Amino acid sequence: MTLCFILQITGTLAFTVFTAVLSSFQFGYDIGVINAPQEVLIDHYRTVLGVPLDDRRATNSYAVNSTDTLPTVEHPVHATTAPWAEEETAGSDHLITMFWSLSVSSFAVGGMIASFFGGWLGDKLGRIKALMSANSLSLIGALLMGVSKFGPSHILIIAGRSISGLYCGLISGLVPMYIGEIAPTTLRGALGTLHQLAIVTGILISQIAGLSFILGNQDRWHILLALSAVPALLQCLLLLFCPESPRYLYIKLEEEVKAKKSLRRLRGTEDITKDINEMKKEKEEASREQKVSVIQLFTDPSYRQPIIVSLMLHLAQQFSGINGIFYYSTSIFQTAGVSQPVYATIGVGAINMIFTAVSVLLVEKAGRRSLFLAGMVGMFFCAIFMSVGLVLLDKFSWMSYVSMTAIFLFVSFFEIGPGPIPWFMVAEFFSQGPRPTALALAAFSNWVCNFIIALCFQYIADLCGPYVFFLFAGVVLAFTLFTFFKVPETKGKSFEEIAAEFRKKSGSAPRAKAALQMELL
Ligand code: GLC
Repeated sequence: MTLCFILQITGTLAFTVFTAVLSSFQFGYDIGVINAPQEVLIDHYRTVLGVPLDDRRATNSYAVNSTDTLPTVEHPVHATTAPWAEEETAGSDHLITMFWSLSVSSFAVGGMIASFFGGWLGDKLGRIKALMSANSLSLIGALLMGVSKFGPSHILIIAGRSISGLYCGLISGLVPMYIGEIAPTTLRGALGTLHQLAIVTGILISQIAGLSFILGNQDRWHILLALSAVPALLQCLLLLFCPESPRYLYIKLEEEVKAKKSLRRLRGTEDITKDINEMKKEKEEASREQKVSVIQLFTDPSYRQPIIVSLMLHLAQQFSGINGIFYYSTSIFQTAGVSQPVYATIGVGAINMIFTAVSVLLVEKAGRRSLFLAGMVGMFFCAIFMSVGLVLLDKFSWMSYVSMTAIFLFVSFFEIGPGPIPWFMVAEFFSQGPRPTALALAAFSNWVCNFIIALCFQYIADLCGPYVFFLFAGVVLAFTLFTFFKVPETKGKSFEEIAAEFRKKSGSAPRAKAALQMELL
């Protein structure tokens, strides 16, 4: 069977998928890149804004007493500071926290706005040209960050990250769509998950490049931030040799000859009858089903339950606090008393990649619902252990190992289920007509929550101190219960069977059965 899969992967298909996921790689790079150089950048912001380098509490305060665990800079003046001067320092620290939180979260604002337009751009220009033109955003973002060292860096970084976010929002719709359209049916799932695998690879590479002896230092941090321009340029070049999506050519443009030519290249054979028949069926289906609006998704009873579940899956993914770890793990590890926080962060990136690969292998066997639930339950316990570790760190220094292990396991459980599953499960809930709108709405909600976490995590951490992950444990528990009661299994089920499952879950089973019988008659 594995051999049969491999035989279907032609050189052109492998090359095209590789080219497409260079976008996903950039997405991951942009998520992870801000993490390692946090201290260097905050110091730079202080210099640019003229804020003295003394009290770091406002930007690093998970511990009960931040001075226990952070490498504090001793300032003799600090001990004798007058109350009004202390107030001023606190104000300045809040300013730095604000600019720092915005530097992290502006990325998600861009993503949020653009996530609605990925499909639209792909239909307007075609998949290849859409990816190419999206890269211009990535290059502008990289350029702004690359020059930020020589100007008002906080403003340039916030602007640069917003624009990179716009790019990532666009491609989070475009890449899965393009890969789904060029993959043979039997490989659609496996090739689709390469999107998430490339994201986590990007996160890992950004963490390695962010090591202080590589690029995460006072001299080279701007190069680190601008480096996503390299895969952007490479992708523009390679896209010139990639075939356009045959589905786009056939279904959207009705260009049968061009579609066949593109298919022959992708399949490496003259016999493309199977694909053509499949596309014909899809075209008929698409012309039969009306496009569905966002409002209809909530007002039509047959869509309401699936869309609520879709949104909840994405909310669960983001409000589990995972990106709190990806954006801020270096400082979390520092607070947990880990002596080499940057290396621990790289460990997280590596574990993240390994478990995404594990999920690829498990998902068709274990099922989506069970993997999602298993992942959430695991994350719940890990979040509890993380907080216990942080709370007791003052009493027992070995607690730092508890926190560190808990963070590693938290990420592993995330990638087993809650990480990859929401991205492709939503597509399984909906038929051709409502699918694009549902996917756009799901991606949008994912980015909104990503933004909320990116912006608020630092504030919540400042407020809750070492208890911060108890809060996330509570949230994870609530979503676990929701999943248990409301999310159906979709593995190996047809669209009709999934719709019937939804009706059963929403308590209208007898009616659903009757409706199904009517349909059969
Ligand atoms: C998922 C999430 C993304 C997160 C990533 C981590 O793709 O959507 O926000 O950063 O997983 O692996």
